[in-house]
Amino acid sequence: MLSGSCGAALTPAPILVTGGAGYIGAVLVRMLLDQGRPVRVLDRMLHGGHGLEDLRHDRNLDVLVRDLRDPRVYEEALEGIDTVIHLAAIVGDAACALDEEAAVQTNWTATIAFARRAKAGGVRRFVFASTCSVYGEGRDETLTEESPAKPLSLYAETRWHAERGILELLDGGAFEPVILRFGTIYGLSPRMRFDLVVNFLAQKAVREGTVSIFGGGQWRPFIHVADIARGILMGVREPLPEAAQAIMNVGDNLENYQLRDLKDELERHVPGVRVVIEPGREDRRTYRVCFDRIEREWGFRATRRVGDGIEEVARAVRSGVIANPDERRYYNA
Ligand SMILES: NC(=O)c1ccc[n+]([C@@H]2O[C@H](COP(=O)([O-])OP(=O)(O)OC[C@H]3O[C@@H](n4cnc5c(N)ncnc54)[C@H](O)[C@@H]3O)[C@@H](O)[C@H]2O)c1
Repeated sequence: MLSGSCGAALTPAPILVTGGAGYIGAVLVRMLLDQGRPVRVLDRMLHGGHGLEDLRHDRNLDVLVRDLRDPRVYEEALEGIDTVIHLAAIVGDAACALDEEAAVQTNWTATIAFARRAKAGGVRRFVFASTCSVYGEGRDETLTEESPAKPLSLYAETRWHAERGILELLDGGAFEPVILRFGTIYGLSPRMRFDLVVNFLAQKAVREGTVSIFGGGQWRPFIHVADIARGILMGVREPLPEAAQAIMNVGDNLENYQLRDLKDELERHVPGVRVVIEPGREDRRTYRVCFDRIEREWGFRATRRVGDGIEEVARAVRSGVIANPDERRYYNA
């Protein structure tokens, strides 16, 4: 969609990014602005607004500090919008356990209400940030978009129900929901999170010299935050797969790791670190994910590996760019 008065140069319509001040949002919003795309952010700033702080004078950025659970904000947020990237959520098992009601409302019921309103308002692309944790317990198989979901936490359950509710809005009309299931993310963001396993281990390795990995046999697909932002941009502009339901795992087959594999990565990228594998405290959540579809349909491959993420986080901590990774604002719970 383009907008502009007669004779004036046409400018692209803004894209709405909910949760745009968060870990992924702060990286994604910069990418969109760099591409010359005006951005409107809707975010309640649950973890502060520092992720967008240096952009506050950017003429192409409009920030609405609003709560997605309040339907009165939808009209203002969706005015002139044809593309939505929906990131706003209570993110992570621990954060959802802290306030289950807010998690169910934000991640599930308000998400569906908002998607319904977006569709009614003429939005075409609605990119929904879901998670590979909907697969829950995958045992030894490699999980595709067709594999059954077995969510093992309230967080995963709310994301799964939201996916279902959004896809129910498909009716062959103009509304095009895209469900993106992200792997576990790592890497630097202006709204940094150290409650994500790679980031957490990297900072601890630098500061304490010894880290423990519990269990270690669990599979996880990892993906750098900048690659996730690239995947989201593909979700905005690429044609959708033929399948009636556009669900994509976002990641790279090379980035499936068992947690004990992080020992080698940490030892390689943080010289001198001691990594202890503590058996017996394995978590049931284990999933190895197939990323063939996103590679086949959109040509998506990761540009960074876990080792790159460990290195950049370690460098930021060592150099003092991030002075104190224990600060409350770096954790969702
Ligand atoms: N980070 C990961 O590893 C990961 C993995 C898979 C999926 N995801 C998904 O990606 C999305 C973003 O994750 P993130 O890591 O950037 O999380 P984040 O916690 O850093 O950001 C979430 C943002 O949503 C905002 N928000 C929360 N409730 C809101 C509400 N009611 N109204 C308006 N804004 C609200 C918060 O203020 C925050 O800025 C989420 O949907 C999450 O489920 C993240």
